[in-house]
Amino acid sequence: MSVERITVIGAGTMGNGIAHVFAQNGFSVTLVDVNAAQLEKAVQTIEKNLERQVTKGALTAEQKQQALANLSAQTDIAAGVKEADLVVEAATENTDLKLTIFKQLDAAAKPGAILASNTSSISITKIAAVTKRPDHVIGMHFMNPVPVMKLVEIINGYATKAEVTETIVALSKQLGKVPCVVNDYPGFIANRILMPMINEAVYSLYEGIAGVEEIDTIMKLGMAHPMGPLQLADFIGLDVCLSILNVLYNGFGNTKYAPCPLLVNMVMAGKLGVKTGEGFYRYTTGSKEMMVSERFKK
Ligand code: CAA
Repeated sequence: MSVERITVIGAGTMGNGIAHVFAQNGFSVTLVDVNAAQLEKAVQTIEKNLERQVTKGALTAEQKQQALANLSAQTDIAAGVKEADLVVEAATENTDLKLTIFKQLDAAAKPGAILASNTSSISITKIAAVTKRPDHVIGMHFMNPVPVMKLVEIINGYATKAEVTETIVALSKQLGKVPCVVNDYPGFIANRILMPMINEAVYSLYEGIAGVEEIDTIMKLGMAHPMGPLQLADFIGLDVCLSILNVLYNGFGNTKYAPCPLLVNMVMAGKLGVKTGEGFYRYTTGSKEMMVSERFKK
């Protein structure tokens, strides 16, 4: 199956990162978001991140310009997907929203187009079931920051056709990524393993076994992780972590996945991590400085 034209739905952090890597690798990309201001911000972010690669010598100025020329923006979903060979949905992690979007995509995309979701934990089989092409629906789970992280977790739904999986595997390699194919069960692999680690870190803090800095330093230096689990939770978003843990907890019916009450409280209090300026740490806008939140200081 040949894939040349890509449409990315959702201009948030993941959507702009996905559009960035496709455009950088020579694909024609349409980025779609119903919010025109968000779309404009996303294009500026892509330009800034491409410039960061130019500064590092990873891209030439011409390659940056070519990548930007490959990119267009659109606020109308139907108009944005009608030419696409592949649509990658990267909207907010909300099941009802994704089901609504996939019905729209199925109606507007041409026959034979592949519909992929960047979902971190919502069932691909469930999403596929609202379309008339469940064999052409697949999970294409990129990691944040998309231009930097090598992995694409590819999730086969119950009905996904082998030819579709092969196409997405080949395409991920064309993006310079390493694809790994898994089956559609709660949390897939990445989050089935990552989220219990993050939850255990939050439990360790909640039970007073150690402070934020000790927990993160032990995991960072002891296990060679680039970030400790609490900093990573802030980076991912505490609301996203909570929602994935609930998918695991409800999907397996096993209390080992029950979210720590401290995580639940922080989400209810609106302390969602980097995006709200505070989680386990406090973040100053426009600065890389990061301090342990007052709440967790000894
Ligand atoms: N676009 C392009 N380049 C970027 C970038 C972006 N958005 N963000 C960072 N970079 C580049 C920087 O330019 C820099 O490049 P060089 O190595 O060539 O200098 C490099 O990435 C490192 O960035 P920084 O120097 O700014 O910062 P750092 O060394 O602290 O690294 C990090 C930042 C890459 C985020 C690193 O801390 C890291 O890998 N953290 C873990 C990230 C992770 O685990 N992500 C997965 C989260 S889970 C997920 O996404 C899925 C889910 O379902 C929840």
